[in-house]
Amino acid sequence: MNSSVQQIKERLSIEDVVSAYIKLERAGANLKARCPFHNEKTPSFFISPDRGSYYCFGCAASGDIFSFVEEFEGLDFKGALKLLADKAGVQLTAFTQEMKEAESEKEKLFRIMEEATKYFEKNLEGSTEVLNYLKSRGLNEKSIKDFRIGFAILDWRKLYDHLKSKGFSDTEIEKAGLAKKPTPSAVGTSPLSRGRMGGGLYDRFRGRIMFPISDSSGRIIAFSGRIFIDDGKSAKYLNSPETPIFSKNAVLYGLDKAKESIRKNNFSILVEGQMDLVLSHQAGYRNTIATSGTALSTSEVSKENVVSNLGLIRRLSENVVLAFDADKAGFSATLRASRIALSLSMDVKVASMPEGVDPADLISKQGPDAWKEAIKNSKHIIEFLLVKILKDAGEDARKVGRDVKDKVLPFIAALESSIEKIHFIKKISDLSGIPELALKDDFEKVEQELKSEKEEIEEAQGSLAKMNRKDYIERRLAGIAFWKQDSELENKFQQFLEKYRDKKNDLIFEAELFYQNSEDIYLEIDHLFANWETEKINEKLSQKMQELRRVKDKAEEIKLLAEIQELNKKKHDPSIKNQGHSE
Ligand code: UTP
Ligand code: MN
Repeated sequence: MNSSVQQIKERLSIEDVVSAYIKLERAGANLKARCPFHNEKTPSFFISPDRGSYYCFGCAASGDIFSFVEEFEGLDFKGALKLLADKAGVQLTAFTQEMKEAESEKEKLFRIMEEATKYFEKNLEGSTEVLNYLKSRGLNEKSIKDFRIGFAILDWRKLYDHLKSKGFSDTEIEKAGLAKKPTPSAVGTSPLSRGRMGGGLYDRFRGRIMFPISDSSGRIIAFSGRIFIDDGKSAKYLNSPETPIFSKNAVLYGLDKAKESIRKNNFSILVEGQMDLVLSHQAGYRNTIATSGTALSTSEVSKENVVSNLGLIRRLSENVVLAFDADKAGFSATLRASRIALSLSMDVKVASMPEGVDPADLISKQGPDAWKEAIKNSKHIIEFLLVKILKDAGEDARKVGRDVKDKVLPFIAALESSIEKIHFIKKISDLSGIPELALKDDFEKVEQELKSEKEEIEEAQGSLAKMNRKDYIERRLAGIAFWKQDSELENKFQQFLEKYRDKKNDLIFEAELFYQNSEDIYLEIDHLFANWETEKINEKLSQKMQELRRVKDKAEEIKLLAEIQELNKKKHDPSIKNQGHSE
């Protein structure tokens, strides 16, 4: 009997799958493209239809349709499986049956989130007041249904009781982030604590309009709840905590619904809030995604996460229009996101709105056409900044000069292409009256100063891709070792095996699906393991390169260079690499 993985592989060629994401060119028997997993101008990403695999000569990304979808969409294996099965029209019956017997923790959490979503949706149907509010904000019934917006009733245990009646345990409900234990200090002191006497679990979301957040395959992984009646002390939006299926920094709201449209229209619109997003979709811009306060607009989020979020958008299209709130916070978020996006070779435009207005206001008060205008009139970030500076500085020519140097030139330095750099320097000169030569002088200084920042971003990008790849290989290998209960393999993989012990059941399931009909699994293992070793060397190499860049001492530098040379030799000579096994 064929496993679902094999059925999917029979029905979907690697060409079908990958070409739905990126543009492919013929190259003899193979196909090539610009690699979606690293930044490049000339194609070094190759696809072999015969072998059903891909390989990038630039960054060593490699794999099959499953790994491609995992890496491209930022999904785990089951997410990719679900997505590809839908695409291939393969029913995952075996999959679901197996799941019932030994449902993994994550699988259970997905089910609990789905159940909660249904419950919130049902609540909303009966809450005329809330429905009226949503309508007054401009949302129509179709949007409410499409986005599965719901309502959490203002009570202590409504959801909890419901989930219990569906057979979920306290631990599961708490793990899903849907209910929590009272904090010790709150028990007995607050007048409200009478409602949660006994110290049992109580609902995290109460009296809130619920926006489910999905991963890119459409599974609900978290909620963002907007307060319905403002009590003056609770946060306006409350989000799910980190859970095994939700990593706050890795999520863009609406991505599952927007990705096709981003690809088709070849640009994305990035907004801040849930309301902005739903209304933008409703106004016909289905290529809109939202940072929703979690992803990349706040400075608390690490650069690596911003890179990872923008990287995900960039794989769909290099063109992005930022439409953050027209206030101070929105402006600084725009600066941060665009500087990094430019360094990733994206084309960044900014849509302006009247002061203090956000996309949701614009759409609901002035109509979809006003939004359309704002998008159509969006300006390249550099032009946008320049116009703002000229306006703010008025007649003060020296201030213009200073601000251009401090606030605009860094953005030009972030540009990838030299042609564009020259283009914008000329443009600034035209608009501001500062001579081109003076600008070029200043520009060179700024560029020198910012060199390390740029390298940092590039590094973050590279190390993210490598981390994913190494992790992917390790998971596969660990899965095989657990599945085969092979102590020799467990020994061989001891360097990373422990990390995966708590995911054992998931990994066995994956390995079984993948390799049950494999003709020579030990050959596949050797192949994977060799790739793992290469990745490990790559990792060390990039670490040493980083050190080299920072080192001041001459003797240190010579030592590092020797180590780098040694690693490079190892990488290209398999016999040396193999000697390294027992280290
Ligand atoms: P805003 O304060 O701009 O809210 O925050 P909004 O979207 O305009 O609010 P309404 O619902 O339309 O009146 C923008 C986004 O930042 C996140 C939310 O995702 C919100 O949509 N946010 C905001 C939080 O996570 N927590 C908060 O307390 C406030
Ligand atoms: Mn807003």
